[in-house]
Amino acid sequence: MKSILHQPLDRVGTDSVKWDGLERWFHVKSDVLPLWVADIDIRTAPSISEALAARAATGEFGYTMFAKEAQEAVSSWYGRRHGLDITPEHVLFSSGVVPGLTHIVEALTKEGDGIVIQSPVYPPFHELVTGLKRVVRDAPLKQVDGKYEMDFDALEHAMRQAKLFLLCSPHNPVGRVWTESELARVVELARTYDVIIVADEIHADLTYPSQHHTAINRLDDRVITVSAPSKAFNIAGLFASYIICPDDAWRKRIIQVQNKHHVLPTPFANTAIIAAYTDVRAERWLDQLTAELEEQATYVVERLNAELPRLTCFMPEASYLLWIDFAALGLEPEARKKWLHEEVRVFLSPGVPFGASASTFERLNFGTSRTIVDEALGRIKTHSDGKAFV
Ligand SMILES: Cc1ncc(COP(=O)(O)O)c(C=O)c1O
Repeated sequence: MKSILHQPLDRVGTDSVKWDGLERWFHVKSDVLPLWVADIDIRTAPSISEALAARAATGEFGYTMFAKEAQEAVSSWYGRRHGLDITPEHVLFSSGVVPGLTHIVEALTKEGDGIVIQSPVYPPFHELVTGLKRVVRDAPLKQVDGKYEMDFDALEHAMRQAKLFLLCSPHNPVGRVWTESELARVVELARTYDVIIVADEIHADLTYPSQHHTAINRLDDRVITVSAPSKAFNIAGLFASYIICPDDAWRKRIIQVQNKHHVLPTPFANTAIIAAYTDVRAERWLDQLTAELEEQATYVVERLNAELPRLTCFMPEASYLLWIDFAALGLEPEARKKWLHEEVRVFLSPGVPFGASASTFERLNFGTSRTIVDEALGRIKTHSDGKAFV
């Protein structure tokens, strides 16, 4: 079978944030390799492109409602892939996962309320909470034997002062797929302190074949889930996401906020969700992609451990993001940025916005061809070899 990941796709000149955004937004030279924003350098599943082309051919692009068929598609996907029984009417459209999380926080909490997050975590988690004038209650993850774990003492302390918990599952950037027993403890704590759990499961469908993702809604039927086919099928630019909210009163409040913000799908969002979640060809394509991503993760981690042992990295259990500690280089974040962009010529996501403990880290997106991965790792090695490690 032809590889999905290793077929080159030239994205330059497509207004790609990842590729064209470097020069336009950051004034970085065009020979810098972009291994930052979280999409992959591949075409989506051919069956999804076909469905979108057929929708485009209708020529009908008026204002569109969330299709019943799309709600049913989400329900059948979660049933088949995650063993969850979802009522289709509980699925709301969202024009992105971050907007979905933001609208939920706006609907179910008020200014000054505490919102739990677990840093290091995807920066919008911090930003949406402070942007809405809620208070971040951080329960930082801890490193145990080369792996990140939840700190349940910190989590309990944070939940005591919070109304809502933004859970990242699987976790960006540390790559953990939380186990059922970890999630069961989260549920228990949330019940004790009456905290609403909102689970961002956008990376769940990229869980590696060797791992198992537990949809936390299976352990507590009031959990609100926000997700999308966007990461799994590499269609983030279509903004086709959704919120699953089983609680009637909460769902009503979320809908009120969504109406205030004019949340409506594009016709292509409906088509993409239906094509991704109901066509067996897309499902087979995804199974191949996750296997290739696990192989790529293993390759990158093994190479880094062998060739750059003083950089610490954490083997992900899902998706295509690698969290690397550059502390041994002894560079401050600004100096490291200059070194990466001007000498090494790779663009990574800097750690600082992910949380207080992350200033020595960079996040590397290996969702690209082996050729580009090899070139990037080679550049990092060449330019690290001469550096005085502390
Ligand atoms: C955990 C997580 N949530 C949300 C998003 C972004 O989702 P969206 O673009 O749909 O807002 C990302 C993108 O990287 C992510 O990693």
